[in-house]
Amino acid sequence: MNKKMIFGTVLLGTSMCLFLLYMFGQTEMNGSASNQQEVDYVIGVSQPNLLEPWQVLMNEELKNEVAKHENIRVIYTDAAQSTEQQIRDIQTLKEYGIDLLIVSIDNSSDLTPVISDMYKEIPVIVLGRGVTGYNYTLYIGSDYYFIGETAAKAAMNLLGNKGGSIVEIQGITNALQAEERSKGFQETLHKNPAYKISDVLVANWQRDDAEDQLKQVLQHRDNPPDLIYAHNDAMALGAYRAIQALGLKDIIIIGSDGVNKHNGGLQLVQEKKIYTTFITPTGGKEAIQYAIEILEKKEVIPKKIILRNHEINETNIKNYLKEKEVAVHSHEGVKDHSITLGFAQVGNESEFRAANTQSIVEAAKEAGVELLLKNADNDQEKQIEIIREFIKQKVDVIAFSPKVEHGWEEVLREAKEAGIPVILSDREINVKDSSLWTSFIGSDFVEEGRRAARWLVNEEASEGVHIIELEGTRNSAPAEGRKQGFEEILAENPNFKILESYQGDFTHEIGKKMMKNALDQYGKDIDVVYAHNDDMAIGAIEAIEEFGLQPGSDIRIISIDATKKAFRALSTGKLNFSVECNPLLGPQIMKSAKDLVLGKEIPMKIITAERTFTQEEAGKEIKKRNY
Ligand code: AHR
Repeated sequence: MNKKMIFGTVLLGTSMCLFLLYMFGQTEMNGSASNQQEVDYVIGVSQPNLLEPWQVLMNEELKNEVAKHENIRVIYTDAAQSTEQQIRDIQTLKEYGIDLLIVSIDNSSDLTPVISDMYKEIPVIVLGRGVTGYNYTLYIGSDYYFIGETAAKAAMNLLGNKGGSIVEIQGITNALQAEERSKGFQETLHKNPAYKISDVLVANWQRDDAEDQLKQVLQHRDNPPDLIYAHNDAMALGAYRAIQALGLKDIIIIGSDGVNKHNGGLQLVQEKKIYTTFITPTGGKEAIQYAIEILEKKEVIPKKIILRNHEINETNIKNYLKEKEVAVHSHEGVKDHSITLGFAQVGNESEFRAANTQSIVEAAKEAGVELLLKNADNDQEKQIEIIREFIKQKVDVIAFSPKVEHGWEEVLREAKEAGIPVILSDREINVKDSSLWTSFIGSDFVEEGRRAARWLVNEEASEGVHIIELEGTRNSAPAEGRKQGFEEILAENPNFKILESYQGDFTHEIGKKMMKNALDQYGKDIDVVYAHNDDMAIGAIEAIEEFGLQPGSDIRIISIDATKKAFRALSTGKLNFSVECNPLLGPQIMKSAKDLVLGKEIPMKIITAERTFTQEEAGKEIKKRNY
């Protein structure tokens, strides 16, 4: 029974279910049902509600992109803000036998387990609003902590040093996007006591709820607030109406979403009803593009696509709308001409790095990109000089793997002034002005650290487990992130103790030397070694053997990277667990560089998908590992 015939029967079943679903939830299907012979894939789209302009825009963008692909059918459901209904919708879509689920959610705590179950059976794209954990194929959306943080900075700029009192209007509770936004907003504001949050209201993303609640709060208040931050523009409009109704003046309103429609954020800024909004792309187009790549089993599918938000206020809205107009047409007819990419590699410190450099060189050849690759031998000053050289050479795009997180403002400002976009490869940096870099392509190092610790706490039952940590380069993103993630899980498991953390640099040699020091100091008291990368772990294994103990049994060893070297150590039992850090970033860097030169907007972050390997799993995979 082939897919077309399945679809025939499903269609029959579907009409039955559609009737039922119509009774209980809203549903719709695109594409002419009679066209069944062209259907390759059936995708289910589950929306939490279509009451919000932003969710409606998301569906429109999904449909516009679907319309370009005759061979897919999409079934849309709308849970009308009922979590129970959304859980039922997802279940029903599963029964239809969909090939892939695209789901946007309100209530992350109740939906996360449902989505994890679905992910065990079919690919799942989480769109626009996140779930906790990593049990899905791909997340496409914004970084909501970043939006909250940026809104707080805008509020502080608008209020000035004198500070002021602020009302925050949240969307809903127990929704990750509302919590993250609020966390980013409040944590940033709390750094300065001059800014006080007087009230936090919850208005279900709805204009009228926001208006009613704010009226209630303000009509009995002697001193009205100086600023209102609403988590979306609909509630910001509600705030504006409340203030109008109460005859209050000079209260600044900040919204979010920036939908370019009637009563959308851009119109409210133009009408000076609100001062600022943040463009929050829905990701609808990208979701369909990636859904097809996933269904066609394309090799490299990232784990997270974080879309960039743009702050729009009365000072830049005109420019933004003009640029948007130009951008829509700018790359039409632009021939795919060869581009020059300047890549400042951090060093040659590890197996990962060698594979990373090779991936970049090969991908450049493949993509016809002229690559200028220079190596900084793990010297930040040298890396800065290399970037300056690329600016002088007027390359089209600069990419680099930053040795450490700090000290890049100056040279990146020079690149920005020269109009050269910068891609961060593999490692992030810490700069106040995130417009100094265009996109980050790499790993979630904090999650890597969590994965290492989760294995250990699940594996090791005995009391008082003593750990030696071999850290990577100080102040580098991987070392900072892997330490933070590991300690986060350990904090919940008090019988696991880090005896000492040794400062390393991701090399085999230093890994061995540090382990020798640790053995001299702690000897047999050491139960576990947590090495921030394979090379240091392999060095530690040699030191343990020379000390006369059995690596892998007397002392358990966990590493990060999961290169072939680690697979060999896993399959000989000398290493116990390895967390992957994917070095094959070349193809994505070239795609992003080309898109940039074509004037296309590229994601702010592309987080790679990564796995973990036990000794058994490494045994099965070792032949396939080519780095
Ligand atoms: O930035 C990634 C890290 O850098 C790798 O884990 C390590 O091997 C390399 O030195």
